[in-house]
Amino acid sequence: MGRIHFGGDYNPEHWPEEVRAEDIRLMKEAGVSMVTAGIFSWALVEPAPDEYDFDWFGRVLDDLHGAGIRVCLATMTASPPPWLTERHPEVLPQDADGVRRWPGSRQHFCPSSPVYRERAVRLVTELATRYGTHPALDSWHIGNEYGCSNPRCYCDVSAADFRRWLRERYGSVEALNAAWATTFWSQRYGTFEQVLPPRTAPTHPNPAQVLDYARFCDDALLRCYLAEKEALRRITPDVPVTTNHMPMHKPVDPYSWAVHEDVQALDFYQDPYDPETHLGAALAFDVTRSAGGGRPWMLMEQAPSAVNWRARNSPKPPGTMRLWSWQAVAQGADAVLYFQWRATPGGAEKFHSAMVPHAGTDTRIFREVSALGRELGTVPQLAGARPRPEVALLADWHSWWALEQGSHPSGDLDFAETLRRHHRPFFEAGVECDVVPPDRDLSAYRLVVVPNLYLMSTETGARLTEFVRAGGHLLVSYFTGISDDCDRVHLGGYPAPLREVLGLRVEEFWPLAEGQSLPLTGALAGSGDLWSEAIDLEGAEAVSVFGAGELAGRPALTRHAYGDGVAWYAGTGSRVLPGLPAGVQATVRGGADGRFLFLLNHGTSTATVTLPEPMPALAGDGADPGAGPVSSVDLPARGVVVLQS
Ligand code: GLA
Repeated sequence: MGRIHFGGDYNPEHWPEEVRAEDIRLMKEAGVSMVTAGIFSWALVEPAPDEYDFDWFGRVLDDLHGAGIRVCLATMTASPPPWLTERHPEVLPQDADGVRRWPGSRQHFCPSSPVYRERAVRLVTELATRYGTHPALDSWHIGNEYGCSNPRCYCDVSAADFRRWLRERYGSVEALNAAWATTFWSQRYGTFEQVLPPRTAPTHPNPAQVLDYARFCDDALLRCYLAEKEALRRITPDVPVTTNHMPMHKPVDPYSWAVHEDVQALDFYQDPYDPETHLGAALAFDVTRSAGGGRPWMLMEQAPSAVNWRARNSPKPPGTMRLWSWQAVAQGADAVLYFQWRATPGGAEKFHSAMVPHAGTDTRIFREVSALGRELGTVPQLAGARPRPEVALLADWHSWWALEQGSHPSGDLDFAETLRRHHRPFFEAGVECDVVPPDRDLSAYRLVVVPNLYLMSTETGARLTEFVRAGGHLLVSYFTGISDDCDRVHLGGYPAPLREVLGLRVEEFWPLAEGQSLPLTGALAGSGDLWSEAIDLEGAEAVSVFGAGELAGRPALTRHAYGDGVAWYAGTGSRVLPGLPAGVQATVRGGADGRFLFLLNHGTSTATVTLPEPMPALAGDGADPGAGPVSSVDLPARGVVVLQS
């Protein structure tokens, strides 16, 4: 990208045209190099079917280009105009109880609707034809936060589309019956026509049906994206495409989408009232970067200060917006953008902060924003550099969809939370992680962590076994490798696909009561929570045993030397100890222009970090690039420093 891009959503339609000259002047003052424009402009550019009014929008692009500002141009399809749903009310989505979601907000479309897709593609074709060669065009921003408000639709249009999807997946109704274990509770289907989405039922729905519906719904959203992408590729084959994902958004699998994106984009809204907000961000940033195979990604949206959609919306205290922006860069982002440029006087987001607040530019927010824009402009050499973690955590959205259903041994297992708990000790120890799906090549990693991957194919089990045999270190936690792709239990003792490499068998689950914890004794003492299980050793050694409860004296944490590697197993939720000063984050990015160490202090007091060797400070607090190498850094609270390492 040639620089760390800086900017935000630009929605000029909220203002008279004469405001634009001031916008452009202020953007330059704030160091803005990129905006994403037109995200919700559909009703204005197409006021009636096939009647276009793009003149005003063209002038916006011309003015931005005149100021040297690049545009990630939105395809404008996230909020269908009133004429569309007036003519075609069947476009509106329905929930599992059959209740319609009406217009008057946004994303009020059924992802399976052929009418919606056809109208969206027409608009996108028009856009690409008009602006495909515009010099301001940097990339396409398709849709907006797919599945944020319409992740799953249960209407009749979706039902028909689901049946088509199932026919393609299974070929015959017999195969579907086998995959869904429909002999249970008399659910056997005679024809595909009898199959419905898992609408609200008297009690537990069929788990495989729910899992397939989650897959189908993700796929329906992806097909909306792909329909637009195809139209864009036809007309602008060389312009990169992306879409902005929400962090750890259960309905949308970032890994299956990533292969269709030229650059990953994430929206992340840190919550100043949450003292651990940076840990959630750290995980989401690692997922986003890893989805793209490690290439630089875009923080497409964050708030300059407060949001307006939490129960209580704290502004960002001084320094935190800068710190959290640098956190994205430290974890591999080459763009830091905000929602949005100028605060609007009306509409549902009038109390959401903006780069130019209601009070204007003589404000803390504008000063902090512009200072950051200028600061990020001073380090173009960071662009393109990549982190190279040696630890991978495995994450799998399909397993997530299968895990969190009723009818399981415990309702306390929350995949996102479990992943956070496994990611956190590495963050605190300054050990960088990728977070990758199970089918990725793992050979470059020294340690692979598998947190509660309930669904696991025998092939994945074989690959993990091979990884350890070849010298890798593997850490697997409880309730992993239990079911196959159709959520049918692997028989013969849990976790069947991993029993050989782990050297054990789990005979029975013993989830803990709410809030209960158990002491762990042995070489790694501590405590376990959420879960316990009856483990029989088959070659592994017990590193810790349960110190109380029904399983007292039985293995809790185990270690198995296997081939040239080692496989660890945790039969309970447990904790590991940190390394760096509390609250300090350390990451490395490397590329053609060198290797860069980022130190960020998320804590509330100054932290002193001793460096492994002296290195020059390039940017950030106390940095004086001319002063030569330093051997330690005093990082003020919320401080950031970038060193050449
Ligand atoms: C999302 C949307 C934006 C805006 C912001 C507000 O990220 O993509 O349009 O609504 O939230 O935080």
